[in-house]
Amino acid sequence: MSTGTAKALELRGLRKAYRLPGGRSVPAVRDFSLRVEPGEFVTLLGPSGSGKTTVLRTLAGLEEPDAGEILLDGVPLTPLPPHQRHIGLVFQNYALFPHLTVFENVAYSLRIRRTPDVRIRDEVEAALKTLGLEELASRLPGQLSGGQQQRVALARALVMHPDLLLFDEPLSNLDAKLRFQVRSELRRLQKRLGITALYVTHDQAEAMSLSDRIAVMRDGRVEQVGTPEAIYARPATLFVADFIGRVNILPGRVVDRGGSGVTVEALDRRWNVAADRCPGAAGEVLVLLRPEAVGLTEAGQGDLAGTVEELEYRGDQTEYRIQIGGVHVVVVESSPRRTRRIVEGDRVGLRVFEDTLHILPAQREG
Ligand SMILES: Nc1ncnc2c1ncn2[C@@H]1O[C@H](COP(=O)(O)OP(=O)(O)OP(=O)(O)O)[C@@H](O)[C@H]1O
Ligand SMILES: [Mg+2]
Repeated sequence: MSTGTAKALELRGLRKAYRLPGGRSVPAVRDFSLRVEPGEFVTLLGPSGSGKTTVLRTLAGLEEPDAGEILLDGVPLTPLPPHQRHIGLVFQNYALFPHLTVFENVAYSLRIRRTPDVRIRDEVEAALKTLGLEELASRLPGQLSGGQQQRVALARALVMHPDLLLFDEPLSNLDAKLRFQVRSELRRLQKRLGITALYVTHDQAEAMSLSDRIAVMRDGRVEQVGTPEAIYARPATLFVADFIGRVNILPGRVVDRGGSGVTVEALDRRWNVAADRCPGAAGEVLVLLRPEAVGLTEAGQGDLAGTVEELEYRGDQTEYRIQIGGVHVVVVESSPRRTRRIVEGDRVGLRVFEDTLHILPAQREG
């Protein structure tokens, strides 16, 4: 399919509260700002109720914002009705018309715009081809698998040559295997077509694998924006660290500062932490240690000594809960790497990948 040039999306100071009967109002989005570069794939990731869907609905013109600006290549979208915004929507419930064939579902928006038949045929065939749906053109949605239905929903969005694609949890109705497959197809397709995309999910693995950048949302605001790697390895707040993957949060204290970073004391040992992993750290701090950043070894070896309190075998991985001088640390290792099995009660040594330690100020967030 041919596409136009990709556009930049900019959201500035967006605010939206829903009014409930009786006059109460529910703030859903508060001072939300984000820029998505042309052709970029950005994901809004956040817990239930953090305002993700509301941001998308405001973009699509399904909700009116209370304040803020939405610009597509610098042009304000807010004055435009939904159908003039050139935005493709793909939502969780595919919302296909059950009585229309795949072809007619994809053709629908073109028909209501009175597009000539010949052009409809060409456009729909191109969209079906892009998504590998040519063979299914005459089927009804009820005769398709979930993954195929979701592809029809995507074809229906693409046929309009949108300037922007919006996705709201589009894979959540699919089983795990299919989700994985459609996910990588989606990523390839978006890159090939080069359409700017904003994607919503609360599944962090999905966000990590699809996105150029992730905006972590909390209570209607962006808590941190960055590449998946930056968000995971250098979380700006405890909320982000905790939401993206699992993390051990250890009390620590900065004992020395140098040009290249800090020395921090935690688990009765000193650790060197690079400058970009300890923004503004001084005094009492929290040391973030990812479960996979620790390796188990023989007792008496490694950086630390501990006792295995509990373990959970998961096939490809094993998770251990280890006590190190009164502190509990979760360690996750790939399973089949040693011949002697570790069992509960064992004394073990722990090797810490010091480079992955990350430090945040100790004061608790609200
Ligand atoms: N139509 C509505 N009327 C009143 N309140 C609403 C309405 N839609 C959403 N809300 C509220 O706005 C807030 C944000 O909701 P939103 O649907 O944007 O969250 P979300 O991040 O998409 O959550 P989820 O992951 O559960 O889909 C929530 O507190 C929700 O209860
Ligand atoms: Mg939602």
